[in-house]
Amino acid sequence: MPGNADAKFVVLRDPDTLARVAADWILARVLDAAGLPAVCLAGGSTPQLLYRKLTEPPYHDRFPWPRVHWFWGDERFVPHDSPRSNYRMVCRALFDHAPVPAANIHAMDMAGSLEYAAENYEGHLRTFYGSELLSPDRPLFSATLLGLGTDGHTASLFPGDPVLDEKSRWVVAVPASQSEPRVTLTFPVLESSGGIAFLVSGAEKCAVLARIRRGGDAPAARIQSPSGVNWFVDRAAAEAS
Ligand code: 6PG
Repeated sequence: MPGNADAKFVVLRDPDTLARVAADWILARVLDAAGLPAVCLAGGSTPQLLYRKLTEPPYHDRFPWPRVHWFWGDERFVPHDSPRSNYRMVCRALFDHAPVPAANIHAMDMAGSLEYAAENYEGHLRTFYGSELLSPDRPLFSATLLGLGTDGHTASLFPGDPVLDEKSRWVVAVPASQSEPRVTLTFPVLESSGGIAFLVSGAEKCAVLARIRRGGDAPAARIQSPSGVNWFVDRAAAEAS
């Protein structure tokens, strides 16, 4: 099984059901949060249905919008108004349709260099957390959402990249190699969470998902959580696994 032995693998019949189950999961995580609820958002296309679902009944009225803080697990090194921007994607799918205080939206600053964007976001996360060291007893995030690339990457943690072994920095620059230049949170920070959930949808993810479920190595398969990693996948992605 992916990640750790007690990974929870849930197959949902279609993308809309996946979005609803994931919305229920996130809502439970933020309502259960000890301190300020903080969600680490996934980029890409898969989570968009989930983000839109949160702006609809029953979630729109039940979600504690004024208290929840929003962060990104990774970002492409592009301006916020770029069609490639994960910030822009979340604004269009979620923030433009829900009463989210601007101060609760923690976007990466892409106005300077790639390295500056990483260092600046790391400082921002450390300030929000209130300590330089992550404690297993006090997770940074209430919920961490992750996607799965067909090559097994998650966030901007790509196969074979030295960043996979980064244990002290919280945020690093990922120069263009297997993708465009990006900024990503590292494993320890993504894993500092009250709950971790992968959202995987579509037939193009069949092969990589089957490989991970058979115990194959991939950056996504290395994500660990004491409470067990959740995998919310639709039938199209789970078919062969
Ligand atoms: C990104 C994401 C990336 C994504 C996977 C899956 O910025 O693109 O962080 O890790 O989650 O590539 O993307 P899709 O959901 O579009 O298949």
